[in-house]
This record gives sequence, C-alpha cells and structure tokens, in this order.
Amino acid sequence: MTFNPADRATFAITTPLYYVNDLPHIGSAYTTIAADVVARFYRLAGYPVLMITGTDEHGQKILRTAQERGLVPQAHCDEIAAGFERLWHQLNIAYDRFSRTTDPRHQVIVKEFFQRVWDQGDIYKGQQQGWYCVSCEEFKEERDLLPEHRCPIHTNKPVEWRDEQNYFFRLSKYQTALEHLYAERPQFIQPDTRRNEVLSFVKRGLQDFSISRVNLDWGFPVPTDPDQTLYVWFDALLGYVTALQDPDEPPSLERAIARWWPINIHLIGKDILRFHAVYWPAMLMSAGLPVPGQVFGHGFLTKDGQKMGKSLGNTLDPFALVETYGADAVRYYFLKEIEFGKDGDFNETRFVNVLNADLANDLGNLLNRTVNMVARYCGGKVPLVDLNHLGEDHPLQALGQSLGAEVAEAYTQLSFSQACQAILRLVQASNKYLDEAAPWTLFKQGKQTETESVLYTVLESVRLAAYLISPVIPGLSTDIYQQLGYAVDFNPKTIGESLSYKDHSAWGALPSGQILGAAKPVFQRLELPTTLA
Ligand code: MSP
Repeated sequence: MTFNPADRATFAITTPLYYVNDLPHIGSAYTTIAADVVARFYRLAGYPVLMITGTDEHGQKILRTAQERGLVPQAHCDEIAAGFERLWHQLNIAYDRFSRTTDPRHQVIVKEFFQRVWDQGDIYKGQQQGWYCVSCEEFKEERDLLPEHRCPIHTNKPVEWRDEQNYFFRLSKYQTALEHLYAERPQFIQPDTRRNEVLSFVKRGLQDFSISRVNLDWGFPVPTDPDQTLYVWFDALLGYVTALQDPDEPPSLERAIARWWPINIHLIGKDILRFHAVYWPAMLMSAGLPVPGQVFGHGFLTKDGQKMGKSLGNTLDPFALVETYGADAVRYYFLKEIEFGKDGDFNETRFVNVLNADLANDLGNLLNRTVNMVARYCGGKVPLVDLNHLGEDHPLQALGQSLGAEVAEAYTQLSFSQACQAILRLVQASNKYLDEAAPWTLFKQGKQTETESVLYTVLESVRLAAYLISPVIPGLSTDIYQQLGYAVDFNPKTIGESLSYKDHSAWGALPSGQILGAAKPVFQRLELPTTLA
C-alpha cells in the first residue's frame, strides 16, 4: 500500500476503550502512544483526523472493583477515567474524543444498534453454559484453560462456571460473509500473524455468543428485556461509534456515522483481536453498516516474559516513568525499540542507554554543535547554498531526498521502528559527514563557501529528521524547529497548513537567511536511578 494523501477525505483511528478496573498501566499507554503517532502523521499529511480513546466502564469486573473499594460504580469510574485523561495529557496525546461507555448518550446509540440487529432476527434467547474469565470478560474454551481452571492470560485468576439464560447473537450466520471479507481485504487484519490466527479460528466454525447477563445490573438493560443486562463487550465496541458524533448534537446512530464512519484503523492489543476482527464486523454487517478499514493487533509489553497487566500486578507505572524521563523519552523508547506487532520486554537500563545514544548524543549534540558553528562562522543565519551544485552523490542530500517518502510509507504501515531507524540513519550520516568534512578547518582555511555548504546540509538534515520524527517526539521536534528559527510548534491544534508534509518532508526546505535561536541542549542526558545503575 503506497501512501497517497488524496486517497480519502478523512482519517479516524481508535485505541481500545480501556477498562477502568485500575489506573492506566504502560500497556494501555503503549497503544495510545502508537495511535497518537499515526494521528499526528495523518494531520501533517493534511487529513482531517479524529483520534478516539476512552474508557470501558460496565460489566462485572468494574462492578467488583468498585465494590472492593467501597464506592458506587459511577464514582469509581469517574475517578479512574480522570486518571486516564491525566496520563494522556502528560504523555502529550492529542486525542479528539474521549468516549466513556457510561455516558447516557452512548445508551441511545446502543439501543438503536441493538434494534437493528434485533430486526434482522440475529438475537435469540438460549442457555449459556461455560467457564467465564471476569478479567477478560469472556467465556473460555475448556481446552484453552490452565490447570485448576485458570485463565491463560490472567494466570492468577480462576475462571467461574456460568449456567444461565442469555440472549445470543447469531454469529454463525456470518461465517461466509466474514470469510469473504478476510479474503477480499487482506489488510483488514494486520499484521499477518494476527490475520492467520483469526483465519484459523474462523475456520474451526463460528458459534453464536451471548450478549447479555443476568444478576448483573452494572450496564445497560437489554432494550427488549430489562431483566437482563447487555454484555459489556456488546456495549463497549459501540463506544467507538458514539465517539464519532459531535458532542453538541443530540445522539443518533445515523448522525454518529455521518462523517467519520467507517473508522480507518482500530489499534488494539492481540488479546482482544477476536472481538474486533470477528464479532465486531459481524455485528456491523447485521446492523447494515460498513466494516472498518483495518484492525491492527500489536504485541504485549512483557516483564520477565509475562504480559504486564493490572490483573497480574506486574506492571510499570507510566505516571512515574513520564515524570522521571519525560513524555518524548517514553514515546520514543516504546516505538523505536519494539517492532510494532511483536512482543517486547521493558528494561530500564536499556531505556536510558537508547535515549542517551539516539536523542541526547546523535540528534541533540548534532544540533548543538551545528548551531554553535553557524553562530560563529555564518553570523547565526542559515547560509545560502545552491543545492543543485552539491552533486548527485552528496551523502546527506542523497539520503534526505528519499527519506520523506520512505518514512511516510513506514508510518502508513505502522512500522514505527522502521520510521525511527530510517530517520536515525540520516542523523548518524550527518554526524559522520560533519566529522569528515570538518567545517572548523575549512573555516580556518578561509573556505567560506565550503564551510557554509557543509553547515547548511547538516542543519537541513537535522531539520528534516526533526520534522519526520515529530509524530513520535513532538516536544523535542518543536524545540529543534524553534532553535532553527521557526516560530511554530507541533501542537496539532495549531499546526494547520504551516507544517504540511508536502513542504516540510522535502529536502532543502530550510530557508536561507533564517535567523537561528541560541544554541542550547534540547535533550538532557538521562541518568539511571541509583538502584539500577
Ligand atoms: N475494555 C477492553 C477493550 C474494549 S474496546 C471496545 C479491554 N480493556 S483493557 O484495558 O483490558 O485493555 C486495553 C488494551 O490494552 C488491549 O488492547 C490490551 O491488549 C492492551 N494491553 C493490556 N496489557 C498490555 C500489555 N502488557 N502490553 C501491551 N498491551 C496491553 O480489553
């Protein structure tokens, strides 16, 4: 898939709606950072963008947590949802909508959607028997369980036996339609490993699933039978639709889908793939709605090989991490160091080393040295250089000319690590070039034109790198751009046309004569906490 901004008029992306059983952990931050990077990239590319995140607040798991804390469920949810918003601000996440499933507006959308599915004859009453994991809010096949009936994901939690009358959704009816969808649109589930998992799951034959619960009143009542409560996942997935609607309009399904539906990308972790790639498109087909563009299931952040999670209690506190190291550092580490789609382990020593090597040394020092030299040798202004005379084989120009397209492709494919590495190659080549070309010697020898040419190409490389990496580290890119004399920042609410991808991803965009700011380090070296050093 080649990136072509003219493909579509709008771009909408979602994170999962996170359970409010606890404050966010680093796993939730991971998905949200990635979604923010994609949204920022598409904004630069000129799309109207809607980035959606939010919280999933109904169901047994949340009810139990609230009870354990001695709070009424809504008060508990309000407190935790506020914690999510706080973390997103600290992490510099520029979301457009925060969808909460307890919002009364959401109930209107759920009711309408349910009615459509009901009218299709896709909901019926039946007997549900099986093992239920409250932490997953999902029935489990007996063969997938660990000894003592423990959940394979929440290994410290025994599943619970359920035997009750529920309403079922006729998933089996959509077996063929889903198979067609996967065959016709190979990009619908990505990466390929996830796609294959889904294909083999669907091939085993789809079974109807229950969409209501009895003896649970923390959720919306089933519209046709208020004695039952809608299953949390049925209501949660629809939170994406509710989020699309302008908050000032009265809620309605028709209005909600008017502008942004179908959503382009649902970004999720691999544990909730089945809900998004099988149940969700079937529900949408039943309601007569188009299916989303893509479901991308990334890997897990692990600690000692085990999924980090609230339920297992082995998570890393993202608030502390951001406070200690800053938002850009956290964003950069997870996206550059872990191939998106695969699992990745967190290690604090490695974290500090990577940031010091890439951002403090390679990028930060390069800027600092060059700005200082421009102050000394060129009166603090971007020198005037004729790029046509640099020669085809100029090491930085050759890299710089193709980088914009390469990085756009990587962002479009959600290959964040590849995008970062391609950008870093230009930065490293610039350091090497600067050392070899030695403008301090050229200057001493009175070779002013050569000195200026070297300094321009290095400054321009730093600019280009800062621009292309801005979706990942918007704070640092803003500082670099400002030091290069631009009066702009990468805040999505204010960038507008002034930082368009078309203009700024091109080699040679740095205007000569622009007055640089004073040289000051943009990224302080990080220190390991003494306990780890
Ligand atoms: N509430 C549901 C989603 C409903 S979407 C309509 C849910 N919430 S969750 O809070 O438990 O998980 C949200 C996301 O965080 C999932 O995509 C999950 O994969 C991700 N992660 C949870 N732990 C994770 C890691 N340790 N590593 C990476 N992501 C992980 O599921």
